[in-house]
Amino acid sequence: MSTPGLLLEHHDAANAPKMLDLMVPVYAASHADIIAADPFFHPDKFRERFDSHIQGAGFELVTGTLDGQLIGYAYGCRRVADRASAIWDKIRANLPGFPTPAEPEPIFIFMEFAVDPGMQGQGHGHAIHNALLAGRREPIANLFVRPENPARNKYMRWGWQQLAREKGPFDDAPIFDSLIKSLS
Ligand SMILES: CC(C)(COP(=O)(O)OP(=O)(O)OC[C@H]1O[C@@H](n2cnc3c(N)ncnc32)[C@H](O)[C@@H]1OP(=O)(O)O)[C@@H](O)C(=O)NCCC(=O)NCCS
Repeated sequence: MSTPGLLLEHHDAANAPKMLDLMVPVYAASHADIIAADPFFHPDKFRERFDSHIQGAGFELVTGTLDGQLIGYAYGCRRVADRASAIWDKIRANLPGFPTPAEPEPIFIFMEFAVDPGMQGQGHGHAIHNALLAGRREPIANLFVRPENPARNKYMRWGWQQLAREKGPFDDAPIFDSLIKSLS
């Protein structure tokens, strides 16, 4: 799935930092409400987390550009097998019907995702989301979304399902819904 005129580009950890200054305004505009409410979401924190995230295994960023303007992005990285085992255990406990491997396999962590507010609701986000997940070789993906975030409904329509409601993976993180999606 793509949308007319949208240029989708993949960036690895070496190239992604060059995109950060273009991503931050999209982040700030698309998260304006929550930035005002919770310091965890301040754009400087986004930059700090990005610097840490790009060091993750298999880091990948997809940007969406329309008429020369970056209008959206999504990125994530791999949780390697031994560090992924807690997630597999949670899947076994909470979603007994979900297929799980005999030995823990890596999991793709879908970390950040945004589209400029003026460009939302036109399919660009879905195209960026799909472009990032399409080439991944991990069997499943995992993400955190605030329970009240309207994006949660999109994820549910795009094949994600709820695994748990829990505190995010940083000391100052709020409560998130943890969602998973099969990539096979
Ligand atoms: C979440 C977010 C990235 C989604 O981006 P988006 O560009 O608005 O998403 P899309 O437009 O692809 O959503 C698709 C919906 O748009 C609508 N749509 C309108 N025109 C469309 C078109 N031509 N093609 C496809 N979908 C279209 C459909 O209702 C579609 O719903 P569906 O995919 O469930 O069928 C965006 O809302 C955002 O930046 N939110 C704030 C930041 C945020 O919360 N990020 C997530 C953190 S976990």
